[in-house]
Amino acid sequence: MKSSFCSAGKMIVAIDGPSGAGKSTITKKLADRIGYINIDTGAMFRSVALLANRAGIECDDDKALEKLCKSMSIKFERTNGSCSIIVNGEDVSSKIRTPEISILTSAISANMVVRDFLLKYQRNMAVNKGVVLEGRDIGTVVFPDADIKFYLTASVEERGRRRFMELQAKGEDVTLNQTIEAVKKRDEQDANRKYAPLRQADDAIVVDSTSLTFDEVVDKIESMIKEKAGCNC
Ligand code: DC
Repeated sequence: MKSSFCSAGKMIVAIDGPSGAGKSTITKKLADRIGYINIDTGAMFRSVALLANRAGIECDDDKALEKLCKSMSIKFERTNGSCSIIVNGEDVSSKIRTPEISILTSAISANMVVRDFLLKYQRNMAVNKGVVLEGRDIGTVVFPDADIKFYLTASVEERGRRRFMELQAKGEDVTLNQTIEAVKKRDEQDANRKYAPLRQADDAIVVDSTSLTFDEVVDKIESMIKEKAGCNC
């Protein structure tokens, strides 16, 4: 891990934005560069959805979801540059990324019992600072006082195209149009839900990645973080 960031910069960095904007890839690269821990909060919601799906629990069954959450352990592990999510001792990294679990996650993330549980879990994970958290409500709800906030976005067509390439690489049988429609549907669900909807924080810096490479986005964000921390290295 390249850690070029001076110790003055132990901050909480919030990165929010819609699906397919490149948050996960960008956050991982950024965290590596500045020697921070990265917390993929979407993967946490996806894990709840996976376990609920396996147990046949409905998205509005508060009691069963609360029980499931309370018995759940979540750990992020880094090996050879890749990041895995371990839930109850099982590596669920690829199982949480199927189209079925994506749609289910969007529905389950509207449940207040689940949001409440993960909110506390995320705050605990970030207690020592030096973290980059990515999600939908990090700068608005989880850490409204984050040291620096970014809202990462891209056009819906570009986000659909990126997701399509990912799914194709995994051998999923989907078309580009279906993928763009699925991205639009998730945007709508995430932005219109009652609790913690996807919304840009007033003090977030908007970064549009439509015509930038992920490395260019990381460069841009990294330099703004270092400037904020008053770091010259
Ligand atoms: O970032 P992602 O695509 O892995 O997120 C999966 C789903 O989880 C997405 O539909 C929105 C939801 N989510 C959320 O509601 N709040 C977060 N902080 C992160 C994700």
